[in-house]
Amino acid sequence: MCGIIGYIGKRKASELLLKALERLEYRGYDSIGIAVVGEGLEILKDRGEVSEVSKTLNFTTLEGNSGIGHTRWATHGAPTQENAHPLTDCNEKIAVVHNGIIENYSELRKELEDNGHKFKSETDTEVIAHLLENKNLPEVLDMLKGSYAIVAIKKDEPDKLLFARNRSPLIIGLGAGENFIASDIPAFLKETNKVVVLENGDYGYVKKESYEINNVEGSADRKVQEINWNSEAAEKEGYEYFALKEIHEIPRTTENTMKALEDLKPYAEEIRKYSRIMFTACGTSYHTALYGKYLFNSIGIRTEAVIGSEFSSVTIGKDDLVIAISQSGETADTLSAVEKAKQRGAKILSISNVLGSSLEREADFSIHTLAGPEIAVIATKTFSAQMLSLYLLYKMIKGEKPETGLEKMQRTVLKLDAEIKKIAEKIQKKENAYFIGRGIGYPLAMEGALKLKEISYMHAEGMPAGELKHGTLSLIEKGTPVIVPLLPEMYDKTISNMEEVKARGGLIIALSWEGDERVGDVASEVLRVPKTGNEEYPLLYILILQLLAYHVTVLRELSPDKPRNLAKCVTVE
Ligand code: F6R
Repeated sequence: MCGIIGYIGKRKASELLLKALERLEYRGYDSIGIAVVGEGLEILKDRGEVSEVSKTLNFTTLEGNSGIGHTRWATHGAPTQENAHPLTDCNEKIAVVHNGIIENYSELRKELEDNGHKFKSETDTEVIAHLLENKNLPEVLDMLKGSYAIVAIKKDEPDKLLFARNRSPLIIGLGAGENFIASDIPAFLKETNKVVVLENGDYGYVKKESYEINNVEGSADRKVQEINWNSEAAEKEGYEYFALKEIHEIPRTTENTMKALEDLKPYAEEIRKYSRIMFTACGTSYHTALYGKYLFNSIGIRTEAVIGSEFSSVTIGKDDLVIAISQSGETADTLSAVEKAKQRGAKILSISNVLGSSLEREADFSIHTLAGPEIAVIATKTFSAQMLSLYLLYKMIKGEKPETGLEKMQRTVLKLDAEIKKIAEKIQKKENAYFIGRGIGYPLAMEGALKLKEISYMHAEGMPAGELKHGTLSLIEKGTPVIVPLLPEMYDKTISNMEEVKARGGLIIALSWEGDERVGDVASEVLRVPKTGNEEYPLLYILILQLLAYHVTVLRELSPDKPRNLAKCVTVE
């Protein structure tokens, strides 16, 4: 959710922190702030995005070689200047940035206020700054309940940044004579690719030449890892938006995944051992889970898919394998589902895109998707990478070779961009859109609708094509856009559903393949991909659905990278 960065070294902290905040903004953009210790402790912060706030506040006037920064996704307290991080103690000697939620903050605040502490914000975070006035870090952590990644700096100890992590990610970046600490690797990837991933319960400090990590057992030894993401992966590289760049990176992700095909084999073997597979995930990742459910059930593997936050009602046990899918590996709802599944004896296989994520650490086995860092808030290339992993596992279990040349076909689909844009122009002023699909077209319909609504704010619904006539059909009127990812499986029935829409004047936009003659009689618009198999079409259609949402959003003069109210990593339940 919120983005955190800390720097300590020889260079001007404010410049590095500001650059890091630009890269971290996908985690939250309600407000930003920087605290630097130079002559004293100085803080600049305000509500708004980095680009807006840095026009009015000149962050780089802050002098000093150590500091902390924050981009906020508001949980406790409105997005205001007062509630922006860093938050300080009574004497403005301690500044704190935090990601997560301090569940017992109201009791702590009351106690602190009774003891004369004066609060300036409505945030849960501020209690940490006040507690640090009279207590050391481990004592403060003992009092906190909830999830947190905390970085603090003290005016009187400018040579160190204090940190603590519990269920919110925090990573140390090791440079030469300087060190970083951040909620995400892309924040400092331009400066160093040597990282130490902190674990739950870790706390300590970072100095410019050293660092110390402790946990309940005493001093903790965490390995230094080298990240092979290149720093350009976290830059726009000439694209107007990260979202567009990341959609265009899908073929490369596919190519990389296909090269590492052998790495998936042990997981295919593992999946065979269980009497039931239970997928769990949220949002877009849940749509991958639905795709996986259809694939696995089709080869006789008993499979279910449950949204992370709905996991409590599930019957699960030691004969089950839970496959938890999460781009970030930090989604609180998914992690909580995993915790419940583990308590009941199930084994966990994770599919995540972030190395060393909480989910990877909780899992018994982990598949790492090879999409590279995804900066736009919406999941695009990571969704495609997740689906591809499940498709490849399915093919392995089935004992078939996967379709070759998928990346080439995806490149061909990207060439439909101008056609997709024309369709976007036709629908951009509409108030509602419906996405319908059957079989593995259903998760795709769900995902197409989610993508469109979350960035363009057009109301959109995805549903099984056969369900339309059970209620939603009453909403279809002349010109209502209905988008249909058509598949060879249940083709005739889907065409009948399209006819029902056509009869009511709906604007049917079909996704189909080269050589499908019939679709043109029913659909107003047809976007055709290269001919392939039923299970492979979602891997091609997804590019169209993502580009459609992208173009509608840009035509509506909105940012596809930063939809309102959303954050890349949702670390609250
Ligand atoms: C939509 C989107 C979200 C995430 C969801 C789960 O574009 O990105 O719906 O898919 O918040 O996030 P992860 O995959 O990180 O668990």
